[in-house]
Amino acid sequence: MRLLVTGGAGFIGSAFIRLVLGTNPSVSILNLDKLTYAGNLENLECVAGNPRYRFVRGDICDTALVNRVLEEWPVDAIVHFAAESHVDRSILSPEPVFETNLRGTFTLLEAARRRRVQRFLHVSTDEVYGSIPEPYAADESYPLRPASPYSASKAGSDLLALSYFTTYRLPVVVTRASNNYGPYQFPEKLIPLMISNALEGKPLPVYGDGMNVRDWLYVDDHCRAILAALEKGREGEVYNIGGNCSLPNIEVVRKILKATGRGEDLIRFVTDRPGHDRRYALSSEKIMRETGWSPQVAFENGIQQTIAWYQENAGWVARVKSGEYQNYYALNYGSREEIR
Ligand code: NAD
Ligand code: DAU
Repeated sequence: MRLLVTGGAGFIGSAFIRLVLGTNPSVSILNLDKLTYAGNLENLECVAGNPRYRFVRGDICDTALVNRVLEEWPVDAIVHFAAESHVDRSILSPEPVFETNLRGTFTLLEAARRRRVQRFLHVSTDEVYGSIPEPYAADESYPLRPASPYSASKAGSDLLALSYFTTYRLPVVVTRASNNYGPYQFPEKLIPLMISNALEGKPLPVYGDGMNVRDWLYVDDHCRAILAALEKGREGEVYNIGGNCSLPNIEVVRKILKATGRGEDLIRFVTDRPGHDRRYALSSEKIMRETGWSPQVAFENGIQQTIAWYQENAGWVARVKSGEYQNYYALNYGSREEIR
C-alpha cells in the first residue's frame, strides 16, 4: 500500500509515520510537508533512511506540485494531516489558517478525485462541535458550532471533504480527535508549553480561571485510531476519537508542576483567550464499535512518558524555541495581564 501523508513533519503526522513504518512492512509513505514553523524533520530522523519513506517539501495549496507528486508516485490513499493547527495563532493571524486548511484541503481533494485515489482520510478535530454543555458528549451527529478561525476552517474543510463523497463518490473518511499530547509536540500547545516552562522554572500562563475542560488523548492512541479508520472506516462517514480523559486545564498544570518538582507559585492566571470554548467532550462509541479501537494509554502514564521525553530532549526543545518562537511568545503572552 502506498500512502501520501500530508503534514508528516508535524507532531501527529510524524508519530503516524513512525508508527506505520515501524509496524506495517507492506506500507510505503510519501510525506508532503511545507515545513512551516511547526514542521521539523528532526521528528523523522529515525525513518529518514528507510527505503519505504520519501519526503517532498511543498505546499498543499500548490496545485501543480500536488498533481506532479501524485503522477510521479501514484498512491492508494491520502492521509491528510497538514494544517495550521494552533487556535491562538489563528486568532492572531487568521489568513494562513484559511489558506492551508481550506484551500489546501480543496487542492488535495481535487487531485484525489482526478486520480481516483481509493481513500482520503481527512484528519479533523472535536473543536468543530464548539463548546459542549455538561453532561453531554458529542457524537458524530452533534451540530457544528466552531468558535475560532481555526475550528471554523476545520469545520469547513470537513464539510468540503464530505461533499466530495456525496457529489463525486470520492471515498472520504473524516476523523475528529480530541486534544493530543505526547513527544515532539510544538511547545505552543498547553501540555508541552507547561512542561517546558516548568522545566525552565518560568511562569505558567493559564487562561481565564483554568476551568476549561479538554479530553486528553495520547498521540499514539490517536495514530492507531487513524489507522483503524483508514483500514476499516466506512466511506462518507465521520469518526470521533476521544481519550476518555476529561480534565480542567488547571488540574493538568498542577500535575505537570508536581511531576517536574516545581511549586504552584509558577502559575499565572492571565487574560483569557477570546471565544475560548469552555468544554470539549466526545463520544467515541462509533469508532470503538466499528473498528475495535480503544485508547490504551492512561493519562497518568502518558504524561509521565511525555515529561520524560521533554527532559531527555532539551536540545530539541531549545532548537524549536529559538528564533520565530520568541516573537510568537512575546506577541501572544506579552500583552496578557495577570488577572488574579
Ligand atoms: P502541527 O502544527 O504539529 O503540524 C502541522 C504540519 O503541517 C507541519 O509539519 C507543517 O509544516 C505542515 N503544514 C502546514 N501548512 C502546510 C501546507 N500549506 N502545506 C504542507 N504542509 C503544511 O499539527 P498537529 O498537531 O500534528 O495536527 C495535525 C492535524 O491533526 C491537523 O489537521 C489538526 O487540525 C489535527 N488535530 C490536531 C489535534 C491536536 O491536539 N494537536 C487534535 C485533533 C486534530
Ligand atoms: O481539541 C482538539 C484541538 O486541540 C486541536 O484541533 C488543535 O489543533 C489543538 O491545538 C488543540 O486545541 P486547544 O485550543 O484545545 O489546545 P491548546 O493546547 O492551545 O489549549 C488547551 C487548553 O489550554 C485550552 O483551554 C486553552 C488553554 N491554554 C492554552 C495555552 C497555550 C492555557 O490556559 N494557556 C496557554 O498558554
